Amino acid sequence: MNVHKAIENRRKITSFSSQKIDPEKLDRIVKSGYMAPAGNNLPSREFVVITDTEVLKEMSEATPFMKWLAGSQAGIVVTGRPDVSKYWLQDALIASGFLRLASTEEDLGAAFGAIYHSEDEVEPEKRESHVRKLADIPIDRRIVAVVGLGQVDENPKPKDHLPFEEMVHYVKFKDS
Ligand SMILES: Cc1cc2nc3c(=O)[nH]c(=O)nc-3n(C[C@H](O)[C@H](O)[C@H](O)COP(=O)(O)O)c2cc1C
Repeated sequence: MNVHKAIENRRKITSFSSQKIDPEKLDRIVKSGYMAPAGNNLPSREFVVITDTEVLKEMSEATPFMKWLAGSQAGIVVTGRPDVSKYWLQDALIASGFLRLASTEEDLGAAFGAIYHSEDEVEPEKRESHVRKLADIPIDRRIVAVVGLGQVDENPKPKDHLPFEEMVHYVKFKDS
C-alpha cells in the first residue's frame, strides 16, 4: 500500500476481533509514532504500549467515548511534555496520525480516543488521572490520547466527505 491508499482507506474502527496482533506488526506501528516529526526536533512525546486486555478494559472507562478500547488487542497511550516543547500537543497528535496510518498499512483497525482536551481543566484531569494510574505515567506528562488497535471486525461504509471546494481554498480564502 502506498501513503495515498492508506490515507484513503483509513477509517475509525471500533469493533475488533479477539485475534491477537502480530507483535512484529505492532512494533512497526509503534515505530511509526516514534519516527514522526516533532517541532524543533524536541522529544516531547512518549508512548506506552499496552497489550494486557484486562488493563485495556479498565482504561476504556477513562472517557465515555472510548468504550471500544475494551474490545481492542492493544492500546498505545500517547503522552506529551509541555516542559520540553511548546509544540507538545501538535507533536503528540502528529505521532497519533502516523500510528493510525501505519495501522491501516498493517491491515489493522484503529481508533483514536481523546484524553486531553482544552475545553476545561476538570474533565481532562479526570481522564488523564484514570490512564495515568493504570500505566504509571509520571505527573509531568500530559496524556493526549489512546490509540486502540485490533483485527478489523466491521465493514464501515465509504466515508461521506464534505464537499472539497468548501474546505479547500486556492490563493485566497473564499466564503461559500
Ligand atoms: C482530535 C480527535 C479526537 C477524537 N476523539 C475521539 C474519541 O474520543 N472517541 C472516538 O471514538 N473517536 C474519536 N475521534 C475519531 C473521530 O470521531 C473520527 O475520526 C471521525 O468521526 C471521522 O471518522 P473517520 O476516522 O472514519 O474518518 C477523534 C478524532 C480526532 C481527530
